[in-house]
Amino acid sequence: MVNPDDLRYTKMPLNNGSGAMPALGFGTLIPDPMATKNAAKAALEAGFRLLDTAERYRTETEVGEAMQEVFKQGKIKREDVFIITKLWNTNHRPERVKPACEASLKKLQLDFADLYLIHTPYAFQPGDDQDPRDANGNVIYDQGVTLLDTWRAMEGLVSQGKCKAIGISDVSLEQVQRIFEAARIKPAVVHVESHPYLPQWDLLNYCKTNGIVLQAFAALGHSSEPKLLEDPVIIAVAQRVKKTPAQVLLAWAIQRGTAPLTTSKNPSRIQENFQVSVLPDDAVREISDGIKSRVRFNAVVETGVPGFIPRGK
Ligand SMILES: NC(=O)c1ccc[n+]([C@@H]2O[C@H](COP(=O)([O-])OP(=O)(O)OC[C@H]3O[C@@H](n4cnc5c(N)ncnc54)[C@H](OP(=O)(O)O)[C@@H]3O)[C@@H](O)[C@H]2O)c1
Repeated sequence: MVNPDDLRYTKMPLNNGSGAMPALGFGTLIPDPMATKNAAKAALEAGFRLLDTAERYRTETEVGEAMQEVFKQGKIKREDVFIITKLWNTNHRPERVKPACEASLKKLQLDFADLYLIHTPYAFQPGDDQDPRDANGNVIYDQGVTLLDTWRAMEGLVSQGKCKAIGISDVSLEQVQRIFEAARIKPAVVHVESHPYLPQWDLLNYCKTNGIVLQAFAALGHSSEPKLLEDPVIIAVAQRVKKTPAQVLLAWAIQRGTAPLTTSKNPSRIQENFQVSVLPDDAVREISDGIKSRVRFNAVVETGVPGFIPRGK
């Protein structure tokens, strides 16, 4: 019999033969650099073996430093940890993809990423300004490159050993289908907002059918209103199974076949969020069927502008 406490160690096989990805992951979209570094270290020490960062978060340097410090202690090795980073919108032109990936790897102090994602399907004007705007404050998009052009360059990175697997983030089902059908190397992971208020069942079914892992960000609702952690169904299940609301949400996410990402600056919450164990099937069903509210917290899918990063950062 599987030990219910093993849920936190669940690994999800990747479709391109590059091994498996831990289901439970720690995100580093934390504005303060010192808090990022401390949180990344605390996450590794608490047991997390997946760290998610991005060029756009400007946390790669701190994540790299945190890993180095933890590796030096000797208990955790590079090969134990699954590192994800992402190509930002201003680097979609094929000739910019490899330099962008190499710049990320340098900051992370790594030879390769375990997974490299196209952060959003929107190409912005190429250049150093991550948030290019015209005089009216409108985003300047780049019409000179398609998502498939960028994908082809991402495929090249796998061949060059810069990353083991590639995927896409903040995409619709239709966009995933188009890339999947045209790709030489299929997307291994689709990384989108998902939680009981945004379950994305159609996308999840498509991913499962095609051997793609759906990685779910904002798994706890990003502390936004309405508060998912205070949903009456979640609270009732948590009381019944004697777990915290966060542990219930993370277990639900893994048990329905997604890979949840959570973030905290607080060491005791980081530990809490790794202490995830199996929910009874009826509790999983109660959350899937009993929560009818539908809320998207992050509008990045509509514009490519990241909803959780303040303007100007
Ligand atoms: N691709 C994209 O466009 C995209 C967009 C957004 C996020 N992401 C990734 O997904 C990661 C996770 O997203 P997220 O930050 O929205 O995750 P989240 O875990 O849903 O929300 C984080 C918030 O929840 C709070 N929190 C964490 N654990 C808690 C607990 N046990 N009890 C109560 N509150 C708790 C945190 O506050 P404290 O820090 O005070 O604990 C923080 O305010 C990000 O870091 C990033 O890596 C990707």
